[in-house]
Amino acid sequence: MKRVIYFFQFLFLTLQIYSVYGQLQPIYSKFKPLADLWGVTESEVPKLLAAEDNLVTANNLLTPLLNEKDFGGSYINVKANKIYINIMNISKKNEIIKNPKLKNYKDLLEFKQVSKSLYDLNDTFSKLINFAVQHNATDFILSHEYKVNNIVLYCYNKCQKNNDFINQAKNFGVIINYLENGDLFPSLDSKFKYRQNKRNNTNKDKRNLGIRLLGRDGMHNENDEEFNSMICSAGFLVRNESQILLTSAGHCTINGPFVEPPDDMSVDFLYLPWNSHNPVFLIGRMSKYSTAEFDKGYISLENDQLIAVPAIRNSDDPDFRELPIVGYLPLSTIGAYLCKSGYITHVTCGVLDSHQAVQCVRIQELNGTEYNCVDIWLANLIARKGDSGGPVFKFVLGEEGVSIVGMIIAGIIAENISAFHPTDVILRRDDGSLMDLIAVP
Ligand SMILES: *[C@@H]1O[C@H](CO)[C@@H](O)[C@H](O)[C@H]1NC(C)=O
Ligand SMILES: *[C@@H]1O[C@H](CO)[C@@H](O)[C@H](O)[C@H]1NC(C)=O
Ligand SMILES: *[C@@H]1O[C@H](CO)[C@@H](O)[C@H](O)[C@H]1NC(C)=O
Ligand SMILES: *[C@@H]1O[C@H](CO)[C@@H](O)[C@H](O)[C@H]1NC(C)=O
Ligand SMILES: *[C@@H]1O[C@H](CO)[C@@H](O)[C@H](O)[C@H]1NC(C)=O
Ligand SMILES: *[C@@H]1O[C@H](CO)[C@@H](O)[C@H](O)[C@H]1NC(C)=O
Ligand SMILES: *[C@@H]1O[C@H](CO)[C@@H](O)[C@H](O)[C@H]1NC(C)=O
Repeated sequence: MKRVIYFFQFLFLTLQIYSVYGQLQPIYSKFKPLADLWGVTESEVPKLLAAEDNLVTANNLLTPLLNEKDFGGSYINVKANKIYINIMNISKKNEIIKNPKLKNYKDLLEFKQVSKSLYDLNDTFSKLINFAVQHNATDFILSHEYKVNNIVLYCYNKCQKNNDFINQAKNFGVIINYLENGDLFPSLDSKFKYRQNKRNNTNKDKRNLGIRLLGRDGMHNENDEEFNSMICSAGFLVRNESQILLTSAGHCTINGPFVEPPDDMSVDFLYLPWNSHNPVFLIGRMSKYSTAEFDKGYISLENDQLIAVPAIRNSDDPDFRELPIVGYLPLSTIGAYLCKSGYITHVTCGVLDSHQAVQCVRIQELNGTEYNCVDIWLANLIARKGDSGGPVFKFVLGEEGVSIVGMIIAGIIAENISAFHPTDVILRRDDGSLMDLIAVP
């Protein structure tokens, strides 16, 4: 554990939480968020879920056939029941259509003439990231997006300090989205200080017998007069050796309180009851976490009165208040749907936009500033400050349960875009092996 405290640049605006959240529609049944996404009635959702399964199967067969010089990747659209194939050299079309592997899926394929190949875009992406690192460019997300056949730059603070980088991006013809300063960095003024962990002073109430802790439940670190605490969402349960841990975002440790170095840098997390900003009892400590490279952390469960359940809270749905977790799924098809549950914005669904994106933010150590880039995936999912750590999942046809596909770590409010880590990033130990995800038996 690096003994530095990071000043994380937040992508969320507290003040917007309530105004935007107030506009969200209540959710009345399990498929309501998917019905909203696709603009259909709930009864039509299972049919579309089956259509998506079919599109994903076909896309998995298609992907190895698309070489990176002649093609610009492919993505699905469930409503249209199509796989869109970005193609540079249209004379390669027949090779795809005539391939025997795809003979059952020909009707799904739709070719789009594009000007940039996967190779070109990947090359642009790598060059821009290298340039950004060399020039200490910061406060941006760079993303390779098949749907627009381009690299997209989301630039905070209007890229004020990144002139060279912006010019370089313009030379490469990338799409630039300038984002407002105040919209994205509410905690720019927060300061860092090592603080004594106050665990011994505050004797947390353990009398709340039988409280069920679920994915997306609210969590809080300690609060005091000088520092605002962080609200985050509970992720999912994992098993490391014999220890059960609750996942969340690593940046939830901001403002500690940490134990003074060189001691343990762990941070206590408290359970935040529904509709309350008054955390009452201890979940446990996050002692293993990172904000550099990956934004993830693991909380040990130290309160016997807390019943940790492998399920996701879906309290807006009177019939399915909990969505049991049955496992996890790899996810790679651009355009495939996914849903998230967060403490602030609850369950909403969107689609995968990019599995090749990087977020670079300025990190302030106690005695200096560093630049830090994290590999992320992007989806057009609504998220707000406080949703960080919430699980990203997909419904499983024919089962009551859901499969985990990732964990929310950030969001671009103005664009309704979320950044997340796919599940394997969260499960991966330092040595590369994977922890177990805990599912319902
Ligand atoms: C397009 O593909 C065809 C068939 O492989 C090839 O003959 C032709 O040279 C290619 N055109 C370009 C511009 O790459
Ligand atoms: C993109 O480029 C990186 C590094 O240059 C390489 O490792 C990766 O395989 C490339 N991916 C594709 C899809 O070409
Ligand atoms: C980037 O930051 C490093 C370390 O802080 C510094 O040594 C270097 O000069 C900076 N580079 C530029 C182009 O500002
Ligand atoms: C906290 O309490 C434990 C056990 O009661 C004690 O050993 C430890 O020294 C205390 N730590 C602080 C910082 O007071
Ligand atoms: C998992 O267990 C190993 C071995 O006990 C330990 O080194 C590692 O820090 C643990 N990881 C987490 C996230 O707790
Ligand atoms: C920052 O502080 C750490 C620990 O206190 C020290 O090891 C490091 O050299 C300092 N860095 C600078 C640039 O002063
Ligand atoms: C973001 O989502 C909210 C709530 O659904 C909606 O009102 C708003 O128009 C969306 N903004 C954009 C840019 O899509």
